[in-house]
Amino acid sequence: MTGTNLFIGETIHLLVVEDEEYDVRRLRSTIKPFERQIRITAVVSNGDEALKILTERRHQIDIVVMDLQIAGGIMGEALIRAIRQIAPTVQIIVMTKMTINITDFDFANKLLRAGAFWYCTKYPADIEEYIYQPTDFILSLVNASQRRMLERERSQSQRKLLRHVEEKLAQTRILGVSEQIQNLRAQVKQLSVSDATVLVTGASGTGKDLVAQQLHYESRRKLENFVVINCGSIPDDLIESELFGYEKGAFTGAQERKMGLFEAANHGTLFLDEIAELPLPAQVKLLRVIQEGEIEKIGRTEQVKVDVRIIAATNRILQKEVAAGRFREDLFYRLNVVPLYVPPLKDRPEDIPVLWEHFLRQMSSDMQKPAPETQESAFTTLTQYPWPGNVREMKNVVQRLLLRDDNPITAEVIQEVLLFLGTPAAPRSDAVFFRESGTGVSLREMEDEFRKKYFQYIRKSSSSDAEAARRLGLAPPNYYRMCKQLGLKD
Ligand SMILES: Nc1ncnc2c1ncn2[C@@H]1O[C@H](COP(=O)(O)OP(=O)(O)OP(=O)(O)O)[C@@H](O)[C@H]1O
Ligand SMILES: [Mg+2]
Repeated sequence: MTGTNLFIGETIHLLVVEDEEYDVRRLRSTIKPFERQIRITAVVSNGDEALKILTERRHQIDIVVMDLQIAGGIMGEALIRAIRQIAPTVQIIVMTKMTINITDFDFANKLLRAGAFWYCTKYPADIEEYIYQPTDFILSLVNASQRRMLERERSQSQRKLLRHVEEKLAQTRILGVSEQIQNLRAQVKQLSVSDATVLVTGASGTGKDLVAQQLHYESRRKLENFVVINCGSIPDDLIESELFGYEKGAFTGAQERKMGLFEAANHGTLFLDEIAELPLPAQVKLLRVIQEGEIEKIGRTEQVKVDVRIIAATNRILQKEVAAGRFREDLFYRLNVVPLYVPPLKDRPEDIPVLWEHFLRQMSSDMQKPAPETQESAFTTLTQYPWPGNVREMKNVVQRLLLRDDNPITAEVIQEVLLFLGTPAAPRSDAVFFRESGTGVSLREMEDEFRKKYFQYIRKSSSSDAEAARRLGLAPPNYYRMCKQLGLKD
């Protein structure tokens, strides 16, 4: 037998657990033709030593070849379990004496259930050269090694996913010390074991997106997709195909099958942002999906089963929308299973300094400069200000402030920056606007500044983004793009 015509990828490293010298010799000679590719890292005579080696050098072992009947210490199924515990991707091949009943499937099953990869019955003692039929034995080692590689890859990508989840959770932490925010965080934690539909409400910029993301990344669905659809940013006639997809040829122009967002979110979470903007026909279909767990794809007769957790958000009072006939009452109840309300900043002033310091530090470090100090009097101004744009507005204020390089930050500085951002609390004349913008500002920059102010003004006096887009005479997708460009949305 030669090793050259058998494919073995990387070198396979064995840990042998065997207390009989004779059997160790037989094992060595069985694998001898492949000694370059199959190496014995260590031979030990009992289970405790095996576990010690695995604890210390788990990365140097691919397969444990263990005798079932060894003297003393941990052995048999308990040893198999302990090995899998310490080194979950290391594979185990069990060798037993001939005295075992070879038709005993229960016995074999027990070993596999404990976590063994394979088991073989040693040759009778009068066969000196081999411990088991060499081809079978080598092939099993090769198969075990491949399984080891697969399991290792799987656990690596699992770890990567978990790291991603950790990062997401850290990036979207809901900061704040107020009782309201502490309760909110506690509710999010409680909901991590639940699949219940959640309706997140609150004014613009209060952190509804954060809440939705935390709900997903804390839940058991965290390794699956978190799919977001902004119901206000998609034209009415496209929303159903976005949500439910269509089959190839369902209508003229449907050249390819399109997967809807419900399918994309299968086993994960679908976040329906700005749910109040969902057109009535789509509301009917959404209700059906929630009730039946099935989607009706355009151009397909049979239903498609989906398992999707739904989180919806809105900055409107949905009950009012229901009363006005713009939102279906039955859908409202289906969505409002767990209501989460994110209060505006002015109702939780104790959060203002915390968030302020956080954004100041974070954005300064992004700009690679030291964070300026905020004077006590400035905090008073900050907490008195009504923050109509909530946390998003605060982020904008911090950003603008850091461009000015003031240190320390005084109450006057804060007032100036708030004035410059043109909040409704401080109406001013154009002359003031130009003067404060300084001289030498390019037309382009001035235009951007004007756009931003006008957008802010319209957004503040509209009850939703969809309404703001309408008033600005913009198609929703353009509106969203421009909001992003102007730093009004993330
Ligand atoms: N409690 C908080 N801690 C840290 N950051 C926050 C908090 N609340 C909001 N933010 C930040 O403020 C910004 C606005 O929050 P978010 O987008 O979640 O608001 P929203 O309620 O979804 O607003 P809209 O109704 O306009 O969609 C985001 O950048 C978010 O990260
Ligand atoms: Mg949002």
